[in-house]
This record gives sequence, C-alpha cells and structure tokens, in this order.
Amino acid sequence: MSAAAVRALSPLQMEVREGLSRPQKELSPKLFYDRRGSLLFEEITRLPEYYLTRAERELLATRMPEPIARLKPRTLVELGAGSADKTRLLLDAIRAASGHGGSDGTYVPIDVSAEFLREVSDRLGEERPALRVLPVVADMSESLELPQVLPRPALFALLGSTIGNFDTMDAVALLRRVRDAMCPEDRFLLGVDLRKDPRVIEAAYNDAAGVTAEFNRNVLRVLNRELGANFDPHDFVHRAFYEPHAHRIEMHLVARRALCVTIPGVGTVGFREGESIRTEISCKYDRDTVYGLFADAGLALDEWIRGDGPAYALALASPVP
Ligand code: AVJ
Repeated sequence: MSAAAVRALSPLQMEVREGLSRPQKELSPKLFYDRRGSLLFEEITRLPEYYLTRAERELLATRMPEPIARLKPRTLVELGAGSADKTRLLLDAIRAASGHGGSDGTYVPIDVSAEFLREVSDRLGEERPALRVLPVVADMSESLELPQVLPRPALFALLGSTIGNFDTMDAVALLRRVRDAMCPEDRFLLGVDLRKDPRVIEAAYNDAAGVTAEFNRNVLRVLNRELGANFDPHDFVHRAFYEPHAHRIEMHLVARRALCVTIPGVGTVGFREGESIRTEISCKYDRDTVYGLFADAGLALDEWIRGDGPAYALALASPVP
C-alpha cells in the first residue's frame, strides 16, 4: 500500500487503510450493512441452514415472558435495532407484565444507521401508538450514550449473537459500556450462539443458495460506493470456516488471482492469488465463557436459558454493585 495522502482521511478511510495494511487483511463486519447488505442479512435469517435466528426467536417467545413478568421493565434498550419481530416479542412480554390496562412503555433502539432507525421507529410507532420510541444513533462498538432520563427498570438487550463479531477484549469493553449504562435494578439480555458440531455451524455460513457469499462480497460494493474503490466483487471467493481453537467462524474473501485495487485516500492494495481479507469473526460460546465475559465486565450471570439442543442460549445478567 502506498503511503500517499495521509492528510484528512475520513474515519472510514482510516479504518479501511489500517485494516488492509495488516498481514492478515481485515475489514469490519459493520461494513456489510448498507441497505442491500441489511436485506441480504434478513434473507440469511430465513435460510434453512441458518438456525440462529429461529432458535433465538423460539427462546424469546417461550422463555422470556417469565423473567420479564418478574422484572416488569418499563424501558427496552436494544443495542443494534435488529429484526423487528424479535423486538415485538419482548415488547409484548413487557406490556403483558405491566399489569392493569397494559402499558407499552419506552423503547430505545440504538443503531449506527439513522435511516434504519427511522424505519424501525416509524413502523413500531404506527403499530403501537402508546409506545414511546427514543431512537439513538450510535456505534455501540465505540460509545453508548443514552437519553438522560429513562423509566426504570430497563431491560437492555443485545440479540442475534451480535456479540460474536467482537474478540474477547472488545466484547468485554462493549459489555462494560452496557454495564456502566445500567442502574442497579436494570437487567441485561444477551443472545449467544453455542458451540456445537462444526459441520452444523459451517453449513450456516455456507448456505447452498449462496446468499451468505453475496452478503460477504457486498462489503466490496460498499467500499466501491463509499470510497470510490475499484473492487470487482467477482475477483473474490467467499470462504467461511470454523476455527476450533478460537471457537469461532471466520469469514474471508479470497482473491481468485493476483490483483491490485485502488482506493482513493487509502492507496493501492495488492493481493496475491489466494490471499484473503477477513471480513468477520463470529464467536461461539458456552456458559462458562459467557460467565467469564460478564465477570470481566462487572456483570453477574443470573440465568442461562437454552432449549434442548446446543443451538442457542439467552443469558440474563445484573450489574455487579
Ligand atoms: C449478525 C453477526 C450475528 O455472525 O451469524 C450471518 C452475521 N454473517 N452470516 C453471524 C452473519 C454471516 C451474524 N451476526
């Protein structure tokens, strides 16, 4: 990569420049999610191989009403305003728990995409006129600034195994930000994908229809559009494999041939044939690992909720005083 144009790089240019300068080239999985990427991800959640979403939805529907009835949260703070149908399950349980006429409470969706947030807020606002929606545009991997006054207790939720995108250090830092935003009576709900037969996991990231491959390559289209890069997405092959020692899926884009790409403000990036960009890690957990992450972040694991199989788990936690 050339060392030209070091002045006034945008945050995205700096991030891409840094990631593509490493021995193992790397891009943030955040970059998948433009409009097309978000639609492709939604398609992934409906694939027969991608068990995560269905497993989580089942647990949310059947196992969360009880703890929510005990907690009686008045606010739902959702990190990464994910799929509306999971949010609805939690909001329904919250309304049912509020007693009497049933109060809808307050919903605080947090997301990097202002556009996506507006859509989510508008849709929920129409469906539930009594729900107070306070959207927050923020990158949870960097900061977590909430509205000053929220009705308590609040249920914080980070669903979809999104935490899996972070390595241990970054995951603990993120969980600590959550913990620091919590009042003593608040609770935190984390959805995690569990360790299991690697063939099952690998199939979920190598679907037969090729949607995940398209999702993976979408990051190159994002760089072309956002930075004026000249990637040809067809020069790269999707590869996803389970790394058993790190207990994680790695997604890569592998160059089919030796090639050069120019990214204005970043420089010229060379690829050898077979060289890859790592575009995502997706960590898989067990109870002890989650317990440890929580402990390091000042959170106490209260409940570990899982179905019969090793598919998926929900963890409920409180802030340690
Ligand atoms: C949204 C990060 C949970 O890691 O399973 C799906 C993203 N990547 N297929 C995951 C994803 C490839 C997903 N997360």
